[in-house]
Amino acid sequence: MALSRSALLASLMSAGLLSACCTPAPAPTPAAPPETHAAEPIVDPHSHANTEAFRTQLLRLDLTVDFDARRLRGTAELDLARIDGAADTLVLDTRDLRIDRVEVAEREGAYVATDYELGAADPVLGSPLRIRMPAAAARVRITYQTSPKASGLQWLTPSQTAGKAHPFLFTQSQAIHARSWIPLQDTPLVRTAYQARIRTPKGLLAVMSAENAIADADTRDGDYQFSMPQPIPSYLIALAVGNLRFQATGRRTGVYAEPEVVKAAAWEFADTENMLERCEAIFGPYRWGRYDLLILPPSFPYGGMENPRLTFASPTVITGDRSLVSLVAHELAHSWSGNLVTNATWNDFWLNEGFTTHLTNRIMEEIYGPARGNEERAIGANDLKDTLELLEIPSDRTLTPDLAGRDPDDNVTDVPYEKGALFLAYLEAKFGRAEFDAFLRGWFDSHAFRSARTGDFLAYLERELLARHPGVVSRAKVDEWIHSPEIPDDAVWPQSDAFDRVDRSRDEWLGGATAASLQTAQWSTRQWQYFLDRMPDTLDDAAMARLDAAFDFSDSPNAIIASRWFRLVARHQYRKAYPAMQRHLESVGRMLLINPVYRELAATPEGLELAQAVFAGARDGYHPIARDAVEKILDRAVATPAP
Ligand code: BES
Ligand code: ZN
Repeated sequence: MALSRSALLASLMSAGLLSACCTPAPAPTPAAPPETHAAEPIVDPHSHANTEAFRTQLLRLDLTVDFDARRLRGTAELDLARIDGAADTLVLDTRDLRIDRVEVAEREGAYVATDYELGAADPVLGSPLRIRMPAAAARVRITYQTSPKASGLQWLTPSQTAGKAHPFLFTQSQAIHARSWIPLQDTPLVRTAYQARIRTPKGLLAVMSAENAIADADTRDGDYQFSMPQPIPSYLIALAVGNLRFQATGRRTGVYAEPEVVKAAAWEFADTENMLERCEAIFGPYRWGRYDLLILPPSFPYGGMENPRLTFASPTVITGDRSLVSLVAHELAHSWSGNLVTNATWNDFWLNEGFTTHLTNRIMEEIYGPARGNEERAIGANDLKDTLELLEIPSDRTLTPDLAGRDPDDNVTDVPYEKGALFLAYLEAKFGRAEFDAFLRGWFDSHAFRSARTGDFLAYLERELLARHPGVVSRAKVDEWIHSPEIPDDAVWPQSDAFDRVDRSRDEWLGGATAASLQTAQWSTRQWQYFLDRMPDTLDDAAMARLDAAFDFSDSPNAIIASRWFRLVARHQYRKAYPAMQRHLESVGRMLLINPVYRELAATPEGLELAQAVFAGARDGYHPIARDAVEKILDRAVATPAP
């Protein structure tokens, strides 16, 4: 018999497991008192897990990495807190897992087999794993193996790595891919500490989003142990295995990368310790011990992923001039916004990314000066304007989209990032920097190691900022920012001199000026990006040829600049650059750098045909998430052909 709703609420509250925004596991650093407003159990539309009945407190993994079979094999053990004493079934998330055995145990007792059932696979959510839980059971152990097509794993052949000699494996759990390599409660509502033992072929190194025991030791015996003592949401559990070296960049910071890459990476990211110190000064103590970077092969589908203690990063941010280090600022900032205070569901994604984008700009300004901060803000605002025109569903243009029934990866647009950041920049402008920094620090401190909903933030904002400074910003204005698909009229749009200069140079060039007269020698990646992004849609072949001859875009070693150029190439059907464009699409798997090119190609029938042919050749090299995203772009173009 299930508990009545009010009895359930009472038991959650007394267990200290529910206070609107809060997840259960005890934080090792002192946690602030819970929020006081009334609690509703939160339902995550992207998980099958019955979190109102059980909460994971500790996860223990013991996995063997089999490169030949492209499988992880082993066990996951979950220590559970029982919230609903009457519940007799534990429901976990899985996707494409083969379950071999499920056992349960009392807290200290021996394991015994229990009944279980793998439900039908939902195309977005995967299959619920329903496990019978006897009344005294407090632990479950699942023996399983992953599928070679697991959505959260990419298995690379040696030829896809820098060294070309060893295979490589990495995970990408955000948003809901952890379930494709671990059976667990795959929802950011639940936080758990974890421990892992990972067995790999000898000579390769395994690293995780955890304490990496042998940061700079030379042992590569293929048997590695990890511990993440702080409770984290499932999307931050991460593993990579490859021929990795380590180089320190500071007291608490360093880089892991293939030997061919590690030196350049350490140079590029030499400012990391400095960023960490500045962050702490403004937003409070760094609570995770070390902060290292792992540089992945070029098929990594994102620029960066904020796995705690060990950010995963694309090699495309190593440009040799430190011009894309805002990516490190961004992933580092997630150590506060996201990893410490976590979006409770993927509908609250802007609490992770909008906050982090604001923090990124704030840190970049702090370290490199106001001009650089404004450049970052301006490029973001510029992207946002383009994105708002593309998004057809009005709620996708708000900070509260309804993603139930949809893949949360589809909401990774500029809206949560840049509209979120624009909103926070607006509040900063209204209340003043000192006041707003302190307010944000208070938000992180008071919600540390918890998950929060948008409503929790709005209540906190109203209480801690609006009410203390009456008449500055109304609640109605806040609601407009959150719920309207438009940008409020009084938004504070960033201004950047650097981009104003680029606008003038572009105009001069379009007017016939020579490349040499434009004085582009000192331009940053961001300036080149902006130069290309704001080119008119009407360049002819001669103009495109003149551009390429002047600036050598087709052969750019900078994948960001190359990507923006190939977007123009596709838009203008500039065929001379197609071979170079194809090489770009085959050599990089970062979605930000390939999806826009595919999207432009897909806009015309001939372009679509080319895109399909290139994709057919490139898809095996892409991560399953990128494969899926490109497939969606092309399928959509087929379903709605261009006029
Ligand atoms: N957490 C995100 C990446 C992500 C989001 C993965 C949603 C899966 C689902 C990461 O912090 C991020 O925002 N990466 C950006 C970095 C950029 C904004 C500096 C990226 O990959 O481009
Ligand atoms: Zn992010």
